[in-house]
Amino acid sequence: MTKAPLAPFPALRMRRLRQADWIRRMVRETVLTPSDLIWSMVVHEGEGQIPVGSMPGISRLSVKDAAAAAKEARSLGIPAIAVFPHIDGAKKDASGKLALDPNGLVANAVKAMKDAAPEVGIMCDVALDPFTDHGHDGVLEDGRVVNDATVEVLVQQALMQAKAGCDILAPSDMMDGRCGALRTALEAEGLQDVMIMSYAAKYASAFYGPYREAIGSGKLGTGSVDNPGDKKTYQMDSANHAEALREVALDIAEGADMVMVKPGMPYLDIVRQVVDAFSLPTFAFQVSGEYAMIMAAAQNGWLDEERSILESLGAFKRAGAAGIITYFAPRAARMLGA
Ligand code: PBG
Repeated sequence: MTKAPLAPFPALRMRRLRQADWIRRMVRETVLTPSDLIWSMVVHEGEGQIPVGSMPGISRLSVKDAAAAAKEARSLGIPAIAVFPHIDGAKKDASGKLALDPNGLVANAVKAMKDAAPEVGIMCDVALDPFTDHGHDGVLEDGRVVNDATVEVLVQQALMQAKAGCDILAPSDMMDGRCGALRTALEAEGLQDVMIMSYAAKYASAFYGPYREAIGSGKLGTGSVDNPGDKKTYQMDSANHAEALREVALDIAEGADMVMVKPGMPYLDIVRQVVDAFSLPTFAFQVSGEYAMIMAAAQNGWLDEERSILESLGAFKRAGAAGIITYFAPRAARMLGA
C-alpha cells in the first residue's frame, strides 16, 4: 500500500517558510516597535516610588520620578505616556472636586513631564474615579451616575488638563455626549490642537481590579443601592459587539481623533471589527489585570515572562491596533532593542 500524499500536488508544505529565522523575518506580516507603545504610568503626591502589590514590577512614581521617566520614554522611542493619579484617600469626596485642581497632582505631573521631555506626548484620563470617595467615574445621585451633570464636570477637568500641557485627552468615563462636549469646549478655548482619544468601547470588566489598588480607589462603592459596586450602568456589557461599533461611530461623529478598545486581549475581536469598520487610529489598552496575569504566572514559573510580554503585545498589532497602552512599555521597548 502506498502512503497517502501529505498534501495535493504540488506539495503544500507550509513549514517551508518557517525553517529558519531569516525566512520567518522575511514573511512576517506585522511588527511591534517601541513606537507602538503608550506607557501607562501611575503617579502619587509623595516622594519616591511605592510598589503596587498586585502589579509586580510597577510602582507609583513621584512627580520628580515621572519627569525622569518621560526622559526615559524619549530615549526608548516610546511616543507617549498615559498618566493616572493616586490621590490620598483623605482628600477625596463624593463630587471628586480635586479632579479640577489646576495645581493638583495631574497638572503638576503633566507640567513636569512636558518640561523634562517636550517631545513625548502626554495623555490624561478624563474621569472622576481617582478623585471620588465612592470610586465611580462621575457624579452619583440616588445610586445612579448622572450623565449630563458628569459631562459638565469632565469638561472642566479636561480643560484644566489641556491647559497644563496635556496633548491627548482620553475620556474613560463612558458618559454619553462627552466627546462632543469636550471638542466644543476645546474649540471655544482656542485649544483646537488638543487631541481626543476616546475610550469608545470600554467594557465593565473584572480585569481592572489591580488598577483600583494602583490608584487607591479601593473596593468600588459599597455595593448598596445608593452606591453600586460595579460600573455596569455606564460601561459596556462584555457580551456585546455591535454596540461597540455604535459607540465608536458616535465618538467619531462627536470629534474623537482616535479611539480605544478596553480591556485588550479578551477583546481582540472588537479591535479587529473597529479597525475594519472605521478609518481612524484604533488603540487597545492592555489593562492592569492583563499585566497581573502575565506577571503572576511568570513569577510561578508557569510562563516565560519576556516571551509572553512580547507575544501579548504583538497580538494587538496582528488584530490591527495602531498601538497599545501598556504597563510593560519600557520593558518591552528594551526587549525590542531600544
Ligand atoms: C477609569 C479608568 C479605569 C482604567 C483606566 N481608567 C478603571 C475603570 O474604569 O474602572 C483601567 C486601567 C487598568 O485597569 O489598567 N475610568
